[in-house]
Amino acid sequence: MHARRRPVAQGGPGQLCRGAARRAAIRCRAGTLAIGLLLSLLAAWPELKQWDFKILATDIDTSVLAKAASGVYAVGDLSDLSRERVRLFERVDDEYVAVPKAARDLVSFKPLNLLAPAWPMKGQFDAIFCRNVTIYFDRPTQSEVIGRLTSVLVPGGLLYVGHSENLGLHAPDFRLVGKTVYQARAHHKAKDAA
Ligand SMILES: C[S@@+](CC[C@H](N)C(=O)[O-])C[C@H]1O[C@@H](n2cnc3c(N)ncnc32)[C@H](O)[C@@H]1O
Repeated sequence: MHARRRPVAQGGPGQLCRGAARRAAIRCRAGTLAIGLLLSLLAAWPELKQWDFKILATDIDTSVLAKAASGVYAVGDLSDLSRERVRLFERVDDEYVAVPKAARDLVSFKPLNLLAPAWPMKGQFDAIFCRNVTIYFDRPTQSEVIGRLTSVLVPGGLLYVGHSENLGLHAPDFRLVGKTVYQARAHHKAKDAA
């Protein structure tokens, strides 16, 4: 999950994942968000396949992870994706689509309980998508989880949250750069998540 460090051309993947696109972490619902995003990235920048680029897609629910790892979806499961993104999947038949292999190889699906005392992943991420997950937690827990996500984000990295989520006490560590997209300030203290 480490990138070849090299400058990114204007308009390249760096717009999403910062300078040397390296790691992105995504909390997933059956992986559709991770895969849909990745297919769009590959369509826009096919050279991404040559990069040392990885997406880590996690969820506490191992059944959704197993489904995602199979790479095959009923068309009806993709209702949260735009038509343009659905078209990037390979057709299996009238009812099913599959994730192209080139994309599958770039995503790892792993179980993760955000509330576990320690997180297993090492290193830091250039972008983290954690949308509509902290809504399940009470305020202090939301703040704790956002703090831990902040600690595994590189300075300048991007944090995507849901429309009804906010950064609470950690807001000063970020600046708003888009609708529900926050960029970690250069001085934020990145440290181990555990
Ligand atoms: C509403 S879905 C959001 C999925 C996806 N981020 C999206 O926006 O479509 C919430 C997800 O959070 C997961 N979740 C709930 N509690 C969790 C926890 N403690 N750690 C990790 N994931 C959790 C659920 O299993 C579910 O897949």
